[in-house]
Amino acid sequence: MLSQVPLAKVLSAVFESIHEGIIVTDNTGKIIFYNSELGKLEGLEPLSVIGKHLTEVYDAVTFDTSEHLSVTQSGQPVLEKRKTYFTANGKEITIVASTFPVYDEGKVVAAYSVCRDITKFKELLAKTMQLQDQIGQEQEYVGSNGTRYSFDSMIFASSGMQNLINSAKKAAEADGSLLIFGETGTGKELLVQAIHNYSSRKDEPFVAINCAAIPETLLESILFGTVKGAFTGAVDGKGLFEQAGKGTLFLDELNSMSISLQAKLLRVLQEKSVRRVGGTAEIPVRCRVISSTNVEPWESINTGSLRKDLFYRLAVISLYIPPLREREEDIGALLTYFLHKFQRIYGGKEVRVSSELKEAFLHYSWPGNVRELEHVIESAVNMLDGGQIIRVEHLPPYLKTRFVSQDAALQGNIVKAEGTLAQILRDAEKQVLTEALRAHGGNITKAAESLGIARQNLQYRIRKLGIEQMG
Ligand SMILES: Nc1ncnc2c1ncn2[C@@H]1O[C@H](COP(=O)(O)OP(=O)(O)OP(=O)(O)O)[C@@H](O)[C@H]1O
Ligand SMILES: [Mg+2]
Repeated sequence: MLSQVPLAKVLSAVFESIHEGIIVTDNTGKIIFYNSELGKLEGLEPLSVIGKHLTEVYDAVTFDTSEHLSVTQSGQPVLEKRKTYFTANGKEITIVASTFPVYDEGKVVAAYSVCRDITKFKELLAKTMQLQDQIGQEQEYVGSNGTRYSFDSMIFASSGMQNLINSAKKAAEADGSLLIFGETGTGKELLVQAIHNYSSRKDEPFVAINCAAIPETLLESILFGTVKGAFTGAVDGKGLFEQAGKGTLFLDELNSMSISLQAKLLRVLQEKSVRRVGGTAEIPVRCRVISSTNVEPWESINTGSLRKDLFYRLAVISLYIPPLREREEDIGALLTYFLHKFQRIYGGKEVRVSSELKEAFLHYSWPGNVRELEHVIESAVNMLDGGQIIRVEHLPPYLKTRFVSQDAALQGNIVKAEGTLAQILRDAEKQVLTEALRAHGGNITKAAESLGIARQNLQYRIRKLGIEQMG
């Protein structure tokens, strides 16, 4: 009976009806079967690929052809391997493929892969993560140009901030390159977005990149774009200069960019045109560049981490956001604002801060600035547990101990309350940092963690205050 059935035809009909992509090669890598499902996925006509060698059909860079060949050689299957590549018609797809050898009389005569398209699944995952991110940001409004903040989002009461905002509005209208300097958490990102939204470029894109977060080689491709084939895996892609169009490109933490990339950036700004990595075409640059640094720019220039010529290019206008400890009125205004914000989010009753704690807040150095204050209030509101008054005991541990020793300091046990406020605060800060370093055996990372600040921030302060390090 069986011999009368044309088995090849049957199998082919079966493989045409399933939802997985199937490809079979002989032991030389020639394609001997390719079903329409895979054809749909890869944008290829089965009849046009059958009979061809894998290397003729797939660009060696985008499809790991050796899979079939290595399975043929090793005789071992490769299971559930994920690959992302570009199809013949330029669509990016992600598949999961398992490749198996076929034996005949102890020898591998063919190999086949079963492939599932997970592009949709990947997109769905990305979407879910994006949604989660938005929920994480307390569903703050994200405008069509990609920003969340305007000048209206800035809470302040000090005349220093009022002056800064006036200058920032002028800078928004002036349209020259702009450099913003401020310690971590002072609101640089917020200010840059506000400036963009106040400028004539507000309906154009706002594109931001954190130069500290991305390895140098990648940063270059991200900024300038790439041309297909520039390096393994490179595809034609717009860089951020192109993506920003006539909008604003925000180079966050510029001082972390390598000196060699700074030279390339300078060239782009001087020539007002950009060349993609691996490309030759000059693409005009139309965006406004705003950059930020959390280290005093001249300090960066002196230590050799910022090129002077680039600084002059990027700082046609410069703005300085003072640290929170230098704007006492703002501490009060922000405190009220964050109390309302988190009381609303966590659906609780009206809460307030005890007068002792408020006093301590006014004297604290806020190394993490507004972000630190925001986190402290958020965690304290959570620790309240039905109560209505936030006291020292509701604070995160690192602050609780601090405020206890600050109390002692005010009683004259640690810092002498002599000299100007700035000197007293400086002494207090120095003692607190020295104490934190001592408590962690000189380990900067751990000390920074206990203080709730970034390691770089602590290093900066150690240098600034001339604290001698252990070991
Ligand atoms: N004046 C302000 N009014 C209201 N919120 C503020 C203000 N300044 C800062 N914030 C808030 O503080 C947090 C930190 O601000 P932002 O991210 O802009 O600081 P940053 O200077 O960019 O910090 P970093 O150097 O660490 O990147 C944000 O949640 C921001 O909304
Ligand atoms: Mg920032």
